[in-house]
Amino acid sequence: MVFMNKFVASAVLLFISTVFADDPRDVYDMQRFGSLAAKVRHFTNLTVIGDSYSSGDGAQNNWGEGSCRRNVGAYGPRLNNLLHPDFFHFAACSGADVPHIQAQVKSSLYGDPELIVMTATGDNGGMFVKVLVACMIQKSGSACDAAVKYASVQADAIPGTLAPLYKDIKDEGKAAGKKLTIVHIGYAQLYNRDADAAQCPPKPTRFYLGVDVKWASKGPGGYRDKINNVILKVNRKIQEAANQDGIIYADADSFFEGHRFCDGPKNAWMQHKLALMQEAGVLCHPTFEGHGAYVNAALDALVNPKSRFVAPAEDPKVLGGRFDSGDEELLKETNEIIDKHLVKEELARQARMDKQTFGF
Ligand SMILES: *[C@@H]1O[C@H](CO)[C@@H](O)[C@H](O)[C@H]1NC(C)=O
Repeated sequence: MVFMNKFVASAVLLFISTVFADDPRDVYDMQRFGSLAAKVRHFTNLTVIGDSYSSGDGAQNNWGEGSCRRNVGAYGPRLNNLLHPDFFHFAACSGADVPHIQAQVKSSLYGDPELIVMTATGDNGGMFVKVLVACMIQKSGSACDAAVKYASVQADAIPGTLAPLYKDIKDEGKAAGKKLTIVHIGYAQLYNRDADAAQCPPKPTRFYLGVDVKWASKGPGGYRDKINNVILKVNRKIQEAANQDGIIYADADSFFEGHRFCDGPKNAWMQHKLALMQEAGVLCHPTFEGHGAYVNAALDALVNPKSRFVAPAEDPKVLGGRFDSGDEELLKETNEIIDKHLVKEELARQARMDKQTFGF
């Protein structure tokens, strides 16, 4: 029976791929999302803006093109294949915080969209990177606690940083006399909170800095729970800002259910390695399948604009108390690691990216 199903499935796959597409991965999208995509009205012009979750670092075949690392496996190009607008613009950029995303809106890469899909705020104040370094590279309980508190403070500021970005997008639309549809997709909780460590991805052997996602402890109040709750808070704040401005919030999180770290050693739709210049080496960024979950979230929100308005709330107790000078001290080593290993390279890349994207 299983054999038969497999046989039939691959025969259908072969047929579809011969007729419609060269890349078997387009077939994957057609099979999974084709019928949902068919329910979305035709948009003439689609633009994707945002951070690395939109540029798609490492989603397919290496980093992706140029300093911004725009990747063909990211949700944007795949939405383009599914929705076939007349024009598709891809301005998202790895490492972009909200001010950089505002610059994307003003750049020539932005095009003339009526549908805008985006991710934003994860790079604000370097919040995610501090959590990843403290909790997955240093693997220090006290630094991880401090990084979680730091991220919680950054999350509180999200609505205030998003308001001017949303305004810029709307002003551009108004100037062009367009009625815009704007979809802001959130982030995904990284962990299955309760599964045994044996279900987590193994520590990578040949990758540097000792990254190990299975260090984080399981159970309520454990480090997996803390990291998940950071993401829940960020999502809730994005949702708050989006609702305030009449923007569609799309919750990607539920589409990762069963595909988080520790949902089985090989089941995660998030990358668990860290290696420069390699596919699947961009720690805690969606894999090709993870970007499929983003495609799913965007389509779902377009078909049922109200249905994904509810992001689950975080548990503030799990995030810990106030961030204070003691926490700042605890993050010293975290910041040193970021400076030494990531920032020099990042700043050089950022300079290239600014030049390439914005011409300054
Ligand atoms: C779509 O974009 C093209 C090229 O930028 C532009 O000429 C056209 O007016 C846009 N159409 C709509 C309906 O937005």
